[in-house]
Amino acid sequence: MLLVIQQLLQQALKNAIQKQLLPGFSVAPLSNKDKRDIPLSLISVEISDKEEFGDYNSNLPFKIAKLSNVAPEKVGSILTSELRQIPQGNNFFSQIEATKGYINFYLSPDYLLQSLQTILRQRDRYGYVIPKTGRNLVIDYSSPNIAKSFGIGHLRSTVIGQALYNLYSYRGWKCIGDNHLGDWGTQFGILIYQINKLIEGKNRRDQKEILQNLTIKDLERMYVEFHKQLEENPQLKEQAKEWFRRLEKREKKALQIWKLCLSLSLREFNRIYKLLSIKFDYSIGESFYSRKARILLREIQKKGLAKKSEGALIMEFPDSNLPPALLLKSDGSTTYFLRDLAAVKYRLKKWHPKMIIYEVGADQSLHFRQLFQAVKLLKWDEVKLVHIAHGLIRDKEGKFSTRLGRTISLEKVLNEAIRKSEELMEKSETKRRLSCSEKKEIAHAIGIGGIKYNILSYHYSKDIIFDWEKILNLQGNSGPYLQYTYVRCYSIIQKAQKEGVRLGKLKKGISLNKDEIVLLRTLVKFPDVVQVAAEKFAPNLLCDYLYNLSSLYNYFYQQFPILKAPEEDRSKRVQLTLATSYILRRGFYLLGMPVITKM
Ligand code: ARG
Repeated sequence: MLLVIQQLLQQALKNAIQKQLLPGFSVAPLSNKDKRDIPLSLISVEISDKEEFGDYNSNLPFKIAKLSNVAPEKVGSILTSELRQIPQGNNFFSQIEATKGYINFYLSPDYLLQSLQTILRQRDRYGYVIPKTGRNLVIDYSSPNIAKSFGIGHLRSTVIGQALYNLYSYRGWKCIGDNHLGDWGTQFGILIYQINKLIEGKNRRDQKEILQNLTIKDLERMYVEFHKQLEENPQLKEQAKEWFRRLEKREKKALQIWKLCLSLSLREFNRIYKLLSIKFDYSIGESFYSRKARILLREIQKKGLAKKSEGALIMEFPDSNLPPALLLKSDGSTTYFLRDLAAVKYRLKKWHPKMIIYEVGADQSLHFRQLFQAVKLLKWDEVKLVHIAHGLIRDKEGKFSTRLGRTISLEKVLNEAIRKSEELMEKSETKRRLSCSEKKEIAHAIGIGGIKYNILSYHYSKDIIFDWEKILNLQGNSGPYLQYTYVRCYSIIQKAQKEGVRLGKLKKGISLNKDEIVLLRTLVKFPDVVQVAAEKFAPNLLCDYLYNLSSLYNYFYQQFPILKAPEEDRSKRVQLTLATSYILRRGFYLLGMPVITKM
């Protein structure tokens, strides 16, 4: 509907200009491509968050007023009168009104009922857009560092990245999800040095045994120990560097130890991805780009964009206030920056994306500003580059800090969530009717769903205070509350079916009461919400919407009989319940939240 309104406004504006109702306003400076058309990008339309602004509103009169000598109120009334003369507008809206520089649109009862019919027909594909060619999108998410525990810090990237993937796929994009594993860099010089020390001089069998028993915790410990030893023996630094050089040259021994670190880490990561139901199309780690990075360096040098500086190579960004980025270290090893740049080049060539989204913490903002600027300087293909810079997850005591090598293991947190959900269920009355395996499945769904929803319900830029009470609160804005609403809908539908209510068919000539209309007005906006959530990279908008929908439905459920209502009401209320369940289910799927039918 957002696009429909934009187009209606575009038409109305054009008509008003032709009739010379807007003196002083000319389209020419706005759009040089086609002088007659007002660019759609100028016409912003929003989903209204208050009833008094209708279902949708636009601030177009304000914008036009600024560009002409006509007051916003006047522009508003000119545009609304033009809008009313466009036949299409009258079908969709029962009312179009101008208020103080805004135009408000109210969906008509006819349109609402038609849309309900559409939802019932399309079920949970309502709002789905068939993929169009030329709309490829690479999403770089999760991207943990090997040889370190999967900390809570990477959870946000993982969960938001996957949600963006789902949202864009639903809106007709071909998404390529790439886990840009941190599996290269000077830190591996340190680890290889340490591990080599462990096995040096031992026979093959002992070596094998030592290596097989290593855990990520051991690797983390060795890393910390190295830095302690460094204080007494600064010489060690050179040794570690030497090992990384050998790794970059792909020397057998170095490579072997590195591979061990990789497989050890992947085992843990894959357990976590399984727990969270996270999927990638590719997991191309930084190691893949280490050679490509050297080749790219030649291109950069040829273009005159590399500069020597204290033995290292840097890239400067003249027309911006950005500090230079490091391309090659003084010891000749490649950098995170150069490898990331090589990754851009590779992705452009392989997938021809229109956009690349990096879901990475805000502490890397400078890195990405430099990276995006470098792409500009290199004059590669046009591509939109976006850094979704998420904030921190803290707990009330600030314990989730990763400094001093203290990472909170995500696996522990997830298992804790499942355990707490089990406890919660023990207290519930329905538990007696559930089998043991059902209880397990449900506890998993509530725990994981609760964490995911909690993370997604914050705007990515905000810090999160990790709070179990909020995460598992059955009364508030939480995953379990939403899941509970779905279970409620589901059980009503099951019963209705048993009682012989025909599902999915609306009777002719029905009318809806005020509260039913409020619910329906929310349901029909689902596709718009998904569109805006994707465009703004903000799954939290979908969370808000689903929470609002759940509250409305629960209110409706408490207010009116459904199965016990007289025949006429019973049927339409069951259909509204069915539509609510479709939207909730699709919404959960887009957020990556498990759907359960019992609780
Ligand atoms: N491994 C990096 C880190 O944990 C994140 C990588 C993000 N993606 C990228 N293309 N730089 O800090």
